[in-house]
Amino acid sequence: MNELEIFENCIQHLAEIYSHEDNKDAKETAKFLYSANCQSIKLNEQENSKSLSRIFNSFEVENEHPLVKEVRKISHLLPWYQTDMGGRIDDDLKSQMIMTELVGPHSLLYTEEFELGVFLQLPNVNYPKRRHPAEETFYTLSGKSFWQLEDNEEREKIIGEYVFHPSMAMHANRTTDEHLIACWRWSGDISLENYYKYQ
Ligand SMILES: [Fe+2]
Repeated sequence: MNELEIFENCIQHLAEIYSHEDNKDAKETAKFLYSANCQSIKLNEQENSKSLSRIFNSFEVENEHPLVKEVRKISHLLPWYQTDMGGRIDDDLKSQMIMTELVGPHSLLYTEEFELGVFLQLPNVNYPKRRHPAEETFYTLSGKSFWQLEDNEEREKIIGEYVFHPSMAMHANRTTDEHLIACWRWSGDISLENYYKYQ
């Protein structure tokens, strides 16, 4: 199997995951992904994200979702980054999260409608309350994590759970002794202009 076919597998896994979410935007996202044409995508070695790719691959455990296994196979070809969300995330938090955006306005698979990617949060990291216009659903792929929506009680999510955040809903999440790998989808207003941290 060549590298582009592995990338297509990643897109198909994302489509499958979000086709099973009980949500209108998720269904539209899945429809887009199922019909996406990846043939013109150029996968090249990503010199500037090599070290982040290695960190991602170092967090490997048994019973990971097949999407993670596929991402590992081509992780050296994916654009990994750490973001401060346009100055909205502090440097020490920024350094503990690594992500690659596979679909979106600045991604390998272009669309202005959605943003999807894969995300690693290191162990013992508290990602505090924030809210944003985009509707968001994380889907847990590896590790262990705890999530809070608005004033609801914090809940642990096991592998294979959806974590839905409506537009502008306050949400927070943290890891303890294990890492978290999840994929995310954004829909609606996917700009960062109105992303708020810490309430
Ligand atoms: Fe979010």
